[in-house]
Formats: sequence, structure tokens, C-alpha cells
Amino acid sequence: MRVFSGIRPTGELHIGNYLGAIRQWIELQEKAECVFCIVDLHAMTTPYKPGELQKNIRDLAIVYLAAGLDPEKCIFFVQSEIKEHTELAWLLGTITPLGELKRMTQFKEKSKKHLEYINAGLLNYPLLMAADILLYQTDAVPVGKDQKQHVELTKEIARRFNNKFGKVFKEPKVLLPKVGEKIMSLQNPKKKMSKTDGPHGYISLFDAPEEIKKKIMATVTDPGRNIRYDPLKKPGISNLLMIYHIFSGEPIKKLENDFKNKGYAELKKSLAKILIDSLGLFREKKKELDQREVYIKEVLDRGTKKARSLAALTMENVRKKMGIF
Ligand code: TYM
Repeated sequence: MRVFSGIRPTGELHIGNYLGAIRQWIELQEKAECVFCIVDLHAMTTPYKPGELQKNIRDLAIVYLAAGLDPEKCIFFVQSEIKEHTELAWLLGTITPLGELKRMTQFKEKSKKHLEYINAGLLNYPLLMAADILLYQTDAVPVGKDQKQHVELTKEIARRFNNKFGKVFKEPKVLLPKVGEKIMSLQNPKKKMSKTDGPHGYISLFDAPEEIKKKIMATVTDPGRNIRYDPLKKPGISNLLMIYHIFSGEPIKKLENDFKNKGYAELKKSLAKILIDSLGLFREKKKELDQREVYIKEVLDRGTKKARSLAALTMENVRKKMGIF
């Protein structure tokens, strides 16, 4: 089984990215052929600083390594290093109706958020993502729930291409984590946790212990005192219970019981401690990896070489089928 996924290098990574995507990747690297990309071209569709992009790419490579991805078991590389991604995205655009791109939830949301910067790249984002996935003959794409629609569109594009020009692509399926597919914002638990929400809405993987504590203690919760998992009626507390459950491994029922006669503050204090301990490992590994500039470059170069030969194979076939050989 071939697995492909990617993350945008847009600065800090939050625990939503980790729980929705990376945690699945770590399990998958043991049983599948995994290709994990740093999707820098996607990061350019929302406002960004060119001078910071290379640092963000390097930091994301460090996250991949610090989280436990093993470059001996999977391929890491940077999207813009392999020209086939943009070439295929263009070609896929020629067979994709405009209406399908316009109805993507992410396009609608992001164009509302960045009124001053609704660029065509934002609209074409899913075409580049489809190219990423289809170039590697991917069977499965482990992502959080917000990306499900894009993977489904990719499948539709693959089917359409295969019907029109003859079979080239595999039709990939989406892999959502069993729990944690949509971690909510700490400040607005009805919205997903996101970097664009401001630092108080998320916990970064590299937040210092005091920051974690401050953010968790300041999370927006629900009226009442009951600690009960009920995402509709108690979205704030349910989000904290879910995060607690995943990081501690304790069943939610047990947590409800343990905190039965205690207030929200007790739950928050205890969760902050769990997070500080769990994320401590990341911080330590990051510190060590920050000193290993050459090693990181080597890992990415090795990955690029392997990915490039896979991408070239598919692209040769696509060009032939489309009549541009
Ligand atoms: P990005 O960088 O926005 O998100 C990276 C991953 O994190 C997941 N995620 C979440 N999961 C749970 N709860 C949340 N609050 C949360 N926020 C984010 C996302 O679902 C994603 O899995 N478009 C992709 C990047 C991409 C890609 C690809 C992914 C480009 N090409 C090809 C897979 C295959 C994205 O959302 O990145």
C-alpha cells in the first residue's frame, strides 16, 4: 500500500495537525510505503513572508523527525523541488470543471478570511493537491477531516482522467484518524483549531510549559460545572476531554468519572500537565535537531531523489496519454 500526505510549512504546527495527520503517519510508516511532503507551494496561497519560507520548511522537516517519522522507513521531500507537481496540476486543471473548485469549503472559507488576497492559487489549491497525491500512485491519504473533501475531489479527477485518456491513476481513499479528526479551537470550540485563529486558539507542538499552562487555563468552556463529553451541548469541555483522552490514553468515560465532582479548573490543570509532559519530548528532540542542519538537508535530498523517480514515471505516462510526448 502506498500512502501520501503533506503539511503546509506556515510556521508553527499545532496539536490539531499532529492528532489529525502526523499521529496516523507514524503508525502507517510501519506497514505501508509512505511519502510525506512539505507542501511549500500550497503555503504560498495565503499571505506569507518569502524571507521566512526556507526556515519554515526546515522547521517542518524537524517536526516530522521529532514526531517520530523515520527517514529510513518513509520518503520526505519538499514539493517545489519536483516540477512534476505543478505540471500535473496544470494538466488536471484542463479536465476539472470550475464549479467543482468553487464549491470547495476551504476555498469559500479562506476567500472570506483573506478578502484582500483571493488569488487563483487558492481556487486551484485542490488541483495541486490532486497532483501531489496522484503522481505517487497513492492508495491512501491520511489527513484530518477538513481535507476529506479535497481527497474526494482527487478521486473524482482520477476517475475522470482514466475514463477520458485511459488508466493512469489509482483512485485514492481518505484515511481519517479514529479519534482526533477535528480538534477544535481553544478560544472558539465550534471552529476547528487553526493557525490563523491567533496563538491562544491553539497549542503549538513547541510551546514552552508556561505557555501551554496559560493557554489551557484560558480556554473557553461551557456554562455549568459538569464534566461530560457532549460535543453539541458542551463543545469546549468535550474538546478538552478529547485532547486529554488522546494524549493520556485514558478512556473518556474514565475521565468523566475521575473529574465528576471537580471543577473545570481541575480538569484544565491536569490536562496542562499531560500536555507539558507529552510535548516535552518534542521540544527536546527539536533542540537536538536544530543543531543538525546538514543531516536534515541530507534527509530531504535523499527523499527528493526517490520521490522524483516515482513522479517521473507517472508523468511520462500522463504526457503520453494526453498527447504531449
Ligand atoms: P495543512 O497544513 O492545513 O494541515 C495539515 C494536516 O493537519 C490536519 N489538520 C487537523 N486535523 C485535526 N484537527 C484540526 N483542527 C486540524 N487542522 C489541520 C489537516 O487535515 C491536514 O491533514 N491541504 C493540506 C496539505 C496538502 C496535502 C496534500 C495533504 C497538500 N497536498 C496531499 C494530503 C495530500 C492541508 O490541509 O494542510
